[in-house]
Amino acid sequence: MKEINDKTGFFGLVHARRSVRIFDQESPFDHELVQKCLEASVLAPNSSNLQLWEFYRVPESSPLKVKLAKLCMKQKAATTARELVVIVARRDLWKIRAKANYDHIQERFKNAPTHKQKQALSYFGSLIPKLYSKYPLWSFVKKTIAFLVGLQRPMVREVSETDVRISVHKSVALAAMTFMYAMKAEGYDTCPMEGFDALRVKKLLQLPSGAEINMIIACGKGLPEGVYGDRFRIESEKVIFEK
Ligand SMILES: Cc1cc2nc3c(=O)[nH]c(=O)nc-3n(C[C@H](O)[C@H](O)[C@H](O)COP(=O)(O)O)c2cc1C
Repeated sequence: MKEINDKTGFFGLVHARRSVRIFDQESPFDHELVQKCLEASVLAPNSSNLQLWEFYRVPESSPLKVKLAKLCMKQKAATTARELVVIVARRDLWKIRAKANYDHIQERFKNAPTHKQKQALSYFGSLIPKLYSKYPLWSFVKKTIAFLVGLQRPMVREVSETDVRISVHKSVALAAMTFMYAMKAEGYDTCPMEGFDALRVKKLLQLPSGAEINMIIACGKGLPEGVYGDRFRIESEKVIFEK
């Protein structure tokens, strides 16, 4: 793989970020920065701007922190983290978020309604409900419609319930990535984790049944021994193609 030679600016940040599994317990940790980085994370691009995400902060002072670290299979990244951030996908909030977008568009164009506004309102008022509603056999119906329409013209094929869930998690993961880069830019390290007991974590945080945990991010000042080995990536020639 060609080295990223530019060690400044954005490329420097990308180069410097590593998943760190052991965090310093002694140096000060600014928990307010976590809040600031999360507020930047919600600027991440997301599907239909539905913003189907939530972020639960569990700082070291929280009575839940030790319990949560145990539910992260006692991974060192979790037990030594100064704060854990639980990144949650809320597919179930689609109606509320679609309405927020709908209302926003209505307000923005209220003095001069345009064709564009009508299209946007129809998108949030009609198309999104068709995609996100749940009825018996609805996935099959949507897939069949997409197939039939697709015979005539290009058509989005990812319309099943599984596709919708994947779409929500895609967007949530982009916010998670934005958060990790923001933390690195502020001088802190992170470790994204999917090694946790989702059922018990949901119970611990009293999350509703429709919530799905996307990942849990351990935060802190990384110790050198917390980086487990050199960075390894498959050669770019094997993953980046020009057609
Ligand atoms: C979705 C996701 C889940 C991960 N889960 C864990 C985990 O449970 N425990 C862990 O130590 N690292 C976990 N990682 C970190 C990866 O192992 C790490 O990103 C990868 O080895 C590349 O190393 P780097 O992040 O230092 O570049 C996870 C990363 C992602 C993106």
